[in-house]
Amino acid sequence: MNEAEITQIQQDDRQYVMHSWAKQAYVRPTVITKAKGIFFWDERDHKCYDMCSQLVYLNVGHRHPKLLEAFKSVGEIPLAAPAFATAPKSQLARKIVKAAPENMAKVFFTNGGADANDHAVKIARMATGRYKIFSRYRSYHGATFGAGNLTGESRRFLVEPGIPGFVKFETPYLYRETLDFESEEAASAFYLNRLHSQILYEGPDQIAAVFLEPVPGSNGVLIPPKGYLEGVRELCSRYGILMICDEVMTGFGRTGKMFAVQHYPFEPDMITFAKGVTSGYSPLGGVILSRDVAEYFDEHIFLTGLTYSGHTVSAQIGCASMDIYQEENLLENARETGGVLAERLKQLKKFRAVGDVRSIGLFAAVELVKDKETKEPLQAYGMDYGKDPSGLMKKFVALLAEKGFYTYSHESSVIIAPPLIITAEQVNEAMNLFETALREFEENVLFPANTLTVK
Ligand SMILES: Cc1ncc(COP(=O)(O)O)c(C=O)c1O
Repeated sequence: MNEAEITQIQQDDRQYVMHSWAKQAYVRPTVITKAKGIFFWDERDHKCYDMCSQLVYLNVGHRHPKLLEAFKSVGEIPLAAPAFATAPKSQLARKIVKAAPENMAKVFFTNGGADANDHAVKIARMATGRYKIFSRYRSYHGATFGAGNLTGESRRFLVEPGIPGFVKFETPYLYRETLDFESEEAASAFYLNRLHSQILYEGPDQIAAVFLEPVPGSNGVLIPPKGYLEGVRELCSRYGILMICDEVMTGFGRTGKMFAVQHYPFEPDMITFAKGVTSGYSPLGGVILSRDVAEYFDEHIFLTGLTYSGHTVSAQIGCASMDIYQEENLLENARETGGVLAERLKQLKKFRAVGDVRSIGLFAAVELVKDKETKEPLQAYGMDYGKDPSGLMKKFVALLAEKGFYTYSHESSVIIAPPLIITAEQVNEAMNLFETALREFEENVLFPANTLTVK
């Protein structure tokens, strides 16, 4: 790509493209000029480790040869509306069901994650005849009206006043919990008691579903305490409520298992997915229905649909992407290199600005604070998207990019979620860049020695 082409792209972008979650006048997007594996290069030919797999989807890395090949083969397959059966759609559904927990039976394909969640709400309402939907604070479920209403943080505010019957409950967040629990199990019991009480007060026979991200992702990779998810399952089963796990971010190997729920001894009633199913090479999402939920629709009309449900091109890319997970042992690699990452994260605790580190597989967050003792967050709640006048998180993320470590942050957490093809050596190289950036940030921005005032 030459300079004139790059300038044209930037000019057209500024003039014609609306960018998500931003004041348009301040948007200055990078142009990716080339990419390979875990790396991309920007318009200055600056090489970056893609440490968030774009938006936590590029699990097989940039420009994977097998996926590029799969694109060539789609030309041979006729495009077909959802009412038709196609080889890519049926094969992909089979691959997904076989990789999912044992009780899962069928897939309804959507275009992405948000509409997968919208459909899971509709399916739960149809299958139970109930209308209330529980979801958690500190969750993100997507930007459509339905998924926006499920979302438990400030990205929901624009779709309010929201949908009646959508109820929020707390996510266990032990780092910021003010109570002192003697064990993770004790913490789980506390949060489950509160959830139980909310279920009773909302009327269990009116609640269709409890939605949760098994490990909330963009809200800071909040690992559930021991026994918590199983406890939610037990409460749902007791009251005939469907448990729906949003695995849009955690699914397809991100945590070291195909689905994050497979780390735990329970099975949800539905799983929503997107991103990693095609490694983001083509848009696709969906809902996996358990045998029981799927069977309900044998004799009841499945009263919903989408023009592109099971789109041939996306399904073909999905099949190729899922084959790569197996052929290249990406789940195993995520567990192994995730272990290396976890070690490096532990070492970050020596920094004054690091409050907490959390990870599972190749899914991690570093939570930054202004003060380790008081845990004052580096950025107050609701101050993303340029609202924070100090701009501290933004400065840190920009410094990381400058060092060649590309990622994004939400509130005070920096997300680390590289492609699942990363090697142990590359994890170490990238984390060296992270440490260099953090050291400079502390010395020059956050705690500069010369700001000590002498009275
Ligand atoms: C957990 C979760 N659910 C849903 C979504 C929404 O997915 P999409 O942007 O494909 O609609 C996201 C997006 O990041 C997500 O992280």
